[in-house]
Amino acid sequence: MADKYKIVFVCLGNICRSPAAEGILKKMIEDQGLANEIIVDSAGTSGYHDGDLPDHRMRKHGSRRGYRFDSISRKFTSNDFDQFDMIIAMDDSNYHNIMRLSPDLESGTKVYRMVDFSQKYMHDHIPDPYYSGADGFELVLDLLEDACEGLLRKITIGDK
Ligand code: 4NP
Repeated sequence: MADKYKIVFVCLGNICRSPAAEGILKKMIEDQGLANEIIVDSAGTSGYHDGDLPDHRMRKHGSRRGYRFDSISRKFTSNDFDQFDMIIAMDDSNYHNIMRLSPDLESGTKVYRMVDFSQKYMHDHIPDPYYSGADGFELVLDLLEDACEGLLRKITIGDK
């Protein structure tokens, strides 16, 4: 356990974007036989939905693509800086709220934006789908699949 590489995805509610990123990356990790090497989690900056399963719309759209999103929402805390090697924010608001909790300057270097790992999309953040229609959820999944692939490539070729 101790030497596994640990990644946490963070959004606002931890019921749409970050649990989807968690489920997508976990599936890619399993498919590539890396489950013993990498741990993936997710959290939200708000705590509004503590204890909840992911949003039913996110679960439905994910299951159509073969994913299972079943993590339980929890709030991101400053302790997460000790627990994780990479902390990945979905948008700038999440990024700044995470940075505010950083215990020191060095810990702040663990924080990334999800779009840092995009390969074919040019979006500057992962848009909050909560008040969107089906298209918003599909766009989030497209962006997350692309960025998770880019992230896993960076981790596995040692180019973080
Ligand atoms: P998420 O989406 O940050 O991707 O989980 C949201 C979920 C809930 C709310 C906002 C965004 N909310 O305001 O309750």
